[in-house]
Amino acid sequence: MRALTGIKPTAMPHVGNLLGMIEPALRLQHSHDAFYFIADYHALTTVHDAERMRTYTREVAATWLALGLDPARTALFVQSDVPEVCEIAWLLSCVTGMGLLERAHAYKSAQGDGRELNVGTFTYPVLMAADILAYDSHQVPVGKDQKQHVEMARDMAASFNSRFGEVFVLPEPLIRDDVATIPGLDGRKMSKSYGNSIEVWADAKALRKKVMGIVTDSKGIDDVKDPDSCNVFALYKLFATPEEIEALATRYRAPGLGYGHAKQALYEVMERRLGAPRERYTALMADPISLEAVLEDGAARARQVAAGVLQRARHATGLRGTPRKNVGGTHPAT
Ligand code: TRP
Repeated sequence: MRALTGIKPTAMPHVGNLLGMIEPALRLQHSHDAFYFIADYHALTTVHDAERMRTYTREVAATWLALGLDPARTALFVQSDVPEVCEIAWLLSCVTGMGLLERAHAYKSAQGDGRELNVGTFTYPVLMAADILAYDSHQVPVGKDQKQHVEMARDMAASFNSRFGEVFVLPEPLIRDDVATIPGLDGRKMSKSYGNSIEVWADAKALRKKVMGIVTDSKGIDDVKDPDSCNVFALYKLFATPEEIEALATRYRAPGLGYGHAKQALYEVMERRLGAPRERYTALMADPISLEAVLEDGAARARQVAAGVLQRARHATGLRGTPRKNVGGTHPAT
């Protein structure tokens, strides 16, 4: 069973990405043949600065590895190292109605922002479908915000298959619904666009400062407090053990606990979880040659699968076989 997912290199990953997406995806490494990639073609719809693109791409790659992606098992690669996906996107765009894309939430909200939209933003779901379908993916672990895109990929696969035969595997979104929405500093969903994020790799001092800045109500130290309506506690629950959660909840409900204490407790459990991975992250960022070797190996594995799927799709549509002679390979038998 293949699991596939991608992260756009548009910013340094934050705690919401970590808990909502990266960690659940990493847990699938043992039960699935996992393909995880850095979606730089997608980032190009908004990142128009080569230096930032390169930096974010390396940061996201190092993040996966620092958090436990095992490159011997899981293929980690950069989307644009497999240009076959662009061709598959074209094939899919020829069986995709304008109406389907016009209904995409992400496009509608970008349109609502009143910015001038590029065509890439409109056809984003087609490229995303190509990512998924290029690797015969069965399951796609994503946050709730991407569920619609995965369903659109499934629709595109079905519409292609109904015209041309069984070429693409129909994928399913794998949404983790046991994790509540991860609150940011101000209590709204943690999101880069709200500016309320806690970066995963903030150093210990910066992390503590962020945690101390979490918005709470104005109850004093001797007021009893409701853990379930507190952002600090909501984050604590995501990092602490069940016993620690229970113990802190009890302290909330009695006098004597100030929010400063709760924040310190949160900082400590976060640092406990993130301290060692942060060291690995720093080491990986300082060793671009090793990082590159992992990405090259991942790309070679991914590309082999995508080339086979593309070949199948070209054949089904009546296009000629992939002209591999031109890229130095042997021409596949047709
Ligand atoms: N659109 C996804 C996001 O913004 C990133 C992405 C690109 C992706 N291609 C994908 C996710 C394919 C899953 C599968 O988060």
